[in-house]
Amino acid sequence: MSENELVRLERDGDIGVIVVDNPPVNALSPGVPEGIIASLNAANADPAIKAIVLIGAGRSFIAGADIRQFGKGRPRTPLGQRTYDVMDAGTKPIVAAIHGYALGGGLENAMGCHYRIAAHSAKVGLPEVLIGILPGGGGTQRLPRLIGAQKALELIVTGRHVPAPEALTLGIVDAVVPEGGNLRAAAVAMARAKADIRPLPRVRDRNQQVAGLAANPGMFDAMRKSIARKARNQKAPYNCILAVEAACTLPFEQGLAREQELFLELENLPEARALRYAFFAEREVARIPEVTPDIHPRPIASAAVIGAGTMGGGIAMSFADFGIPVKILEASPEAMARGMERIRNNYATSVKRGSLTEAAMAERLALIEPVSTFEAIGQADAVIEAIFEEMGPKKEVFTKLDAVMKEGALLLSNTSALNIDEIASVTKRPQDVAGAHFFSPANVMKLLEVVKGAHTSPTTLASVMKLGRDIGKISVACGNCDGFLANRSRAPFSVETIIMLEEGALPEQIDKVMLDFGYPMGPFAVGDLAGLDIGWASRKRRAAENPNYRKQPISDRLCELGRFGQKTGAGWYRYEKGDRTPYPDPIVADIIREESAKLGNPPHTFTDEEILRRLLFASVNEACKILEENIAYRSSDVDVMWLHGFGFPRYRGGLMHWADTIGVQEVYNQISAWHQRYGSRWAPAQKLRDLAATNTSFRDAKPGRG
Ligand code: 3HC
Repeated sequence: MSENELVRLERDGDIGVIVVDNPPVNALSPGVPEGIIASLNAANADPAIKAIVLIGAGRSFIAGADIRQFGKGRPRTPLGQRTYDVMDAGTKPIVAAIHGYALGGGLENAMGCHYRIAAHSAKVGLPEVLIGILPGGGGTQRLPRLIGAQKALELIVTGRHVPAPEALTLGIVDAVVPEGGNLRAAAVAMARAKADIRPLPRVRDRNQQVAGLAANPGMFDAMRKSIARKARNQKAPYNCILAVEAACTLPFEQGLAREQELFLELENLPEARALRYAFFAEREVARIPEVTPDIHPRPIASAAVIGAGTMGGGIAMSFADFGIPVKILEASPEAMARGMERIRNNYATSVKRGSLTEAAMAERLALIEPVSTFEAIGQADAVIEAIFEEMGPKKEVFTKLDAVMKEGALLLSNTSALNIDEIASVTKRPQDVAGAHFFSPANVMKLLEVVKGAHTSPTTLASVMKLGRDIGKISVACGNCDGFLANRSRAPFSVETIIMLEEGALPEQIDKVMLDFGYPMGPFAVGDLAGLDIGWASRKRRAAENPNYRKQPISDRLCELGRFGQKTGAGWYRYEKGDRTPYPDPIVADIIREESAKLGNPPHTFTDEEILRRLLFASVNEACKILEENIAYRSSDVDVMWLHGFGFPRYRGGLMHWADTIGVQEVYNQISAWHQRYGSRWAPAQKLRDLAATNTSFRDAKPGRG
C-alpha cells in the first residue's frame, strides 16, 4: 500500500484533517509515519489551512508502533526527522482527535500535537514496558512534562491504559467529547478556536513540570524498590525509570538521546522477544481452523452454574463481573447459603482493598440468583456444570440439563480432566456440549481451557471461545484427552518434583530455583497455600482403586503428621503464627532423607540447572506428545495456557518459547540422556525426535505426526 493510502489529508473548510487509515488498529507500520509527515508538510505549506487535526480511521486513533517490526534490525528514523520533530517545527496548531486507543507511539504522536481531545470511551497509555521496551518516541520525555514526573512514572512503569475521563483529570488530554458526541466535529471546532493562538503550546517546552525534580532522586529509588519483586530478572521497567529520571535531569534534546540509548538496550533482549511472542501468541489462540468465517458464535446474554462450591461461585462471579446475569443452582440449602456467603465475602474483600465500590458489589450480587431446581435454569444461554470431579454425578447432571435446557443452549462442563465425550453421550445434543475448564480462583485467573469433544460443533466451539472473551478470559481451545492440554502438560512437572524429593532434593531448594526462574512462588510453597490434604485424599482414593498406583511416601508422611500446609502451621515448610513466610523445616529434611534411603536412592547433589530442566523438560516432552496427538492446535497455545493458568513468567514467553531459547536439539539430547538413566518416563516423544531430526523449532512445529 502506498503512503497516500495509509494516511490522507482531507479538508474541512480551513482545517486540514490528517486521517491515518491502517486497519485494524492504525499501527505505525512502514509508510504511516512517512504519510503523517507528508500530510503535515502539505498542510503547513497550504495557506488555506489554518490548523490541523490528526485522527484515526476505523476503530482506533493509533495503537502504537507496529510490534511486528521490532527485532528485525530495521534502521531507526534518526532523531530530528520523526513525526514529532515535524510537529514541533510546524507553524500551525495540531489537535489530536483520539478515539479507541492511543497507545505507545500513538500517544507519543498525540503528545507531539499541541492539543488533545478524546472520545469518552477512548483509552490512552504507554504500554511499551509490557512488551519489554520503553516509549522510544519521546514518550518518556513528554509525558512527565505534560502531567508531572510522579504520575508519568507510574503510567510508564505499569503500562496501564488510562480511560479518557481520567486522562482529562491527569492533564493528558485537554477535553473529552461526551458519549454520543462527534469527535471529528469537536476536534475541528477546537482546531478552529485555537487557530490564531501563538505561541503554539508544545509539550516539549513545559519544563516547569520537571524542573526541580532532579533534587528528588528518592522518588525514583522508591519506584525501583516498589517493583523489585515483580520486575525481577527484567530490565525494561528499570530502563523506563532511568528514562523518566533523564527527563528530570537533562534538557529535552539530551533526554531524547538518552531515551534512545535506553530503548536500544532493550529491543533485542530475550525478555523483549519473549514478551512480543506472548503478545502475538495470545492473539493466535483465536485462530481455530474449523471455526471458519461463516460460523457465528451464539450470543450469551444469561448463564447458569451448577454447584455453589468454590469453583461454581468463582465462575458465577466471573459472569456477574461482566454484567451477565447468572443463576446458580445448588440442591442443598445449606451448601447454597455457604456458597453465597463465600461470594459475598470475596466481593467484600475487594471493597475493603479498594478495588471495588460498594455500589458495584451490590450490582454484581444482584446479578447472581440462587435457585434450587433445574427447571429454573432452562432458559439460560449457557450452563456450566461445576460439581466435583466424578463421572457418575456429572453424567446425572447432564441428563437433567438435556431435559430442561432450551434448544441451542451451550452445555459446558468445568471438568479439569474427565472425558468430555462420555459426559456428552448422555445427552441428545452432543454438538452443544464442550469443556469449559476454569482455573482457581475462577473469578481471578485469566485462563479458560475450552475442550472440544468428538461431536462439539464449530458453532459451539466458537461460542465458548467468545463467551470466555466476553467475561475477560483468554480462551484457549484443545482436544479431549485425560487432563486436556493444561493439566496433562503440567502433570510431568509435578511428578518430577516428587521424584526429585525422593532423590534427596529439598523443597526449599526446588522452590528457590523456580522463584529465581521467575515464578511468583515455588511448587511446594503453592502446595502449602492450597492445602496438602486434598491431594492426600485423592491419592488414597486412587490407591484403593488401582493397586499399581504410584505412592508418594514423603507427601503421605507429612499428611499423616497433620501437616496440611499454611492452615495447620506446617506442611512442606513450617510457619509462625500470623506469618505466611515459609521456613525450611528439619523434620521435612529428615523425612526426605529416610524415605530416599528406603527407596534405595543414592545421595545426589542437584544443581539449579538440573532442577529447572528436569521440571520443565518433562513437560516440554509431554507437550510434544499433545501436539503429536492433535490435542493442541499449535505449540504457542501451550505457552498461553502456562502463562495464564500456571504463573509461568511472562518475560520467558511460555514453556515452549523458553524451550526454543535452549534449542530443540539440546532439549532432545538431554531428554534422551535421562531416558537412558531414568527409564521410560523420559522416553522422548516421537514429535520431539522429528523436530530434532529436522532441526525445526517448537514454535514452527505442526500438530500431528511428522
Ligand atoms: N502492532 C502490530 N499489530 C498490532 C498492534 C501493534 N501495535 N496492535 C494490535 N495489533 C494487531 C493484533 O495483533 C491483532 O492482529 P490479528 O487480528 O491479526 O490477530 C489486531 O491488531 C487486533 O488486535 P487485538 O486483537 O489485540 O484487538 P483489541 O481490540 O482486543 O485490542 C489493542 C486493541 C488494545 C490496541 C491491543 O491490540 C494492544 O494492546 N495492542 C498493542 C498496543 C501496544 O503495545 N502499543 C505500543 C507499541 S510499541 C511502541 O509504540 C513503541 C514506540 O514507543 C516507539
